[in-house]
Amino acid sequence: MTTYAVTGASGLLGHLAVTGLIESGVAASDIVALVRTPSKVADLSEQGVQVRAADYSAPETLAAALAGVDTLLLVSGSEVGQRVAQHSNVIDAAKNAGVSRIVYTSVMRADTTELVLAPEHKATEEALRASGIAFTLLRNGWYIENFVAQLDQYRATGEIVGASGDGLVSGATRADFAAAAVAALVQPGHENAVYELGGAPAYTMTDLAAALSSALGTTIVYRDMAPDEYAAMLESVGLDAGTAGFVTALEVATSRGDLYTESRDLQHLLGRESTPLAEGVAAAVK
Ligand SMILES: NC(=O)c1ccc[n+]([C@@H]2O[C@H](COP(=O)([O-])OP(=O)(O)OC[C@H]3O[C@@H](n4cnc5c(N)ncnc54)[C@H](OP(=O)(O)O)[C@@H]3O)[C@@H](O)[C@H]2O)c1
Repeated sequence: MTTYAVTGASGLLGHLAVTGLIESGVAASDIVALVRTPSKVADLSEQGVQVRAADYSAPETLAAALAGVDTLLLVSGSEVGQRVAQHSNVIDAAKNAGVSRIVYTSVMRADTTELVLAPEHKATEEALRASGIAFTLLRNGWYIENFVAQLDQYRATGEIVGASGDGLVSGATRADFAAAAVAALVQPGHENAVYELGGAPAYTMTDLAAALSSALGTTIVYRDMAPDEYAAMLESVGLDAGTAGFVTALEVATSRGDLYTESRDLQHLLGRESTPLAEGVAAAVK
């Protein structure tokens, strides 16, 4: 019997991973959901999952949270700038608790990409390798659902504005990334493996606009801007210069292909094709 733990289980990806583990046949009582706020996952405790309090920034919570855990899914945190220290706290506690393998949600080509989000993932990967614990690196691509935060704006204006040109994105749904994580957790043979996970076929922002048009029954177009004009536009609508620069850097990264991969690792882990853009968009707008 293996005991699995999932961090970030109150978040979208972590929650899908816990329910995916149950669907794959793991007994709910062999799953530990690690969360800051247990009341957020009452649905999991009702199903028999062990819910334990754990804060990446509070090492004293992590020792008890990881007691008896064999295989851990470390879902990267959401507090950009603090994540290396936070993830290191989890890795140290896992080592002390005797965790035998950590599956970590990293970012595409974490060790070589210039993507502005990558340095914390690269440092976490290095901490994992240095820990001596077996690892599996899931270098996740972009979530198809990332557009949802801007959906109202797209609907209101009829356009997606960006600076990503015709850059291709190997996006996949959170559900697919969670299913891949479940496969990497429960199947044998993923020790010290590094997977570049991307959906196929890849899409441009023009393709995303077309998929949204069909899903919403209205016309949404993609309008491309030069990066400096895009950053200035973001500042003109109230973003501070740092945030505007960060968002623009992501657009530029997309235009040069940093979110694209030809790897089939996601499809191999899933044992099927990844969910197509149109289907992922239609589900997300519901
Ligand atoms: N590939 C992509 O396109 C993409 C996009 C966005 C994010 N990400 C990364 O993927 C991760 C998972 O995505 P998601 O959609 O599931 O994000 P999410 O819904 O925001 O979930 C983030 C989870 O991290 C937990 N968390 C944050 N700080 C923590 C801390 N100090 N201690 C313990 N738990 C903490 C949150 O707990 P609370 O519920 O307590 O806040 C939440 O459960 C994100 O955290 C981020 O690193 C990837």
